[in-house]
Amino acid sequence: MKKSVRDVDVAGKRVLVRCDFNVPIKDGVITDDSRIVKSLPTIRYLLEQGARVVLCSHRGRPKGEVNPKYSLAPVAARLSELLGQPVPMVSDCVGEVAHKAVEALKPGQACLLENVRFHPEEEKNDPAFAKELASLGEIFVNDAFGTAHRAHASTAGVANYLPAVCGFLIEQELTAMGGILEAPQHPFVAMLGGAKVSDKIAVLENLLDKVDAMLIGGGMAYTFLQAAGGGVGLSMCDESCLPVAMEILNKAKRLGVSLYLPVDAVCNTSVDSTADPQVFPADDIPDDMMGLDIGPKTREFFKQALASAKTVVWNGPMGVFEDERYAGGTRSMVEVLANLDAVTVIGGGDSAAAATQMGYADRITHISTGGGASLEFLEGKDLPGIACLADK
Ligand code: 3PG
Repeated sequence: MKKSVRDVDVAGKRVLVRCDFNVPIKDGVITDDSRIVKSLPTIRYLLEQGARVVLCSHRGRPKGEVNPKYSLAPVAARLSELLGQPVPMVSDCVGEVAHKAVEALKPGQACLLENVRFHPEEEKNDPAFAKELASLGEIFVNDAFGTAHRAHASTAGVANYLPAVCGFLIEQELTAMGGILEAPQHPFVAMLGGAKVSDKIAVLENLLDKVDAMLIGGGMAYTFLQAAGGGVGLSMCDESCLPVAMEILNKAKRLGVSLYLPVDAVCNTSVDSTADPQVFPADDIPDDMMGLDIGPKTREFFKQALASAKTVVWNGPMGVFEDERYAGGTRSMVEVLANLDAVTVIGGGDSAAAATQMGYADRITHISTGGGASLEFLEGKDLPGIACLADK
């Protein structure tokens, strides 16, 4: 158990808070503010306790250079609206300008430092830079779950110089995601999808020891179908992963885990083809066709496999859901999850976006704010941004 903001006295103190404000912005407008909204409980709590709140984050990958395209200014404006009080933007995260802004903060006030990745030292976890950043606070609160898999100066390095605790978002992520890994209610079912099987091997291996059943859909399923001797036509298949896919199929058998692969697929000659999609058996796809979504029989089959589940973890869409013609499989699985009497956890990234876009977010027990971070968490790895925090 990690110490949280509740375990430290923050009144009147300068509290450096690392958030993940890496939000999508198009033409200066934030298109999805969920990461900002999810950081509000910690920020509000600190403000109410009379802390002087110094917020910091990265946004995008500006490669260690100042680039206005990646400024956090739109986030400061959105935060001011959501909190109902001004959150001034500070033009740098270190140096005189940062110190002056922090000195000017009164208890119950907050400011937002500019993108930490404008300095190359951030991603190098440079100790001098981490120390300089840490000098702005008396306590460090990490609430950036989405960046907790990065050992950077603002996510881990600063913890060498300040008492370090987690915020409510990290606490919530650890309770939800850690809870299902450590003590899930059974039957525990994992549903995995997404395009690249290589990204998911470690997750599959870690979860296989814990689950009662595993459903594999999305582009990655074709590597398994091919490993099992199926004909997958032009579908995505990572030849280099065929041996490990075979091993996973065998391991599931050995462990008595029911492993479900698609039985049919919605296909076309290419993702861009304007021809009408057609449904074929998933292990007998014509040579000139590729599977782009799970088919209607698979949706039903997966639904039955999920019916008695008490815990479900889902990562990765079932098809190319960005195209409405191939969104049906992902949508029907989100609907199934939303109607289950079970603990349902979505491990971030595209599947989180799909559940939100499709309007089911409030019927899922927990949707992680981490993409890469939740994958590494599900792999069973220690995340540097969490490992550096004080234990209770
Ligand atoms: C994310 O969006 O996954 C996090 O903010 C981390 O971003 P990064 O992959 O650029 O480190």
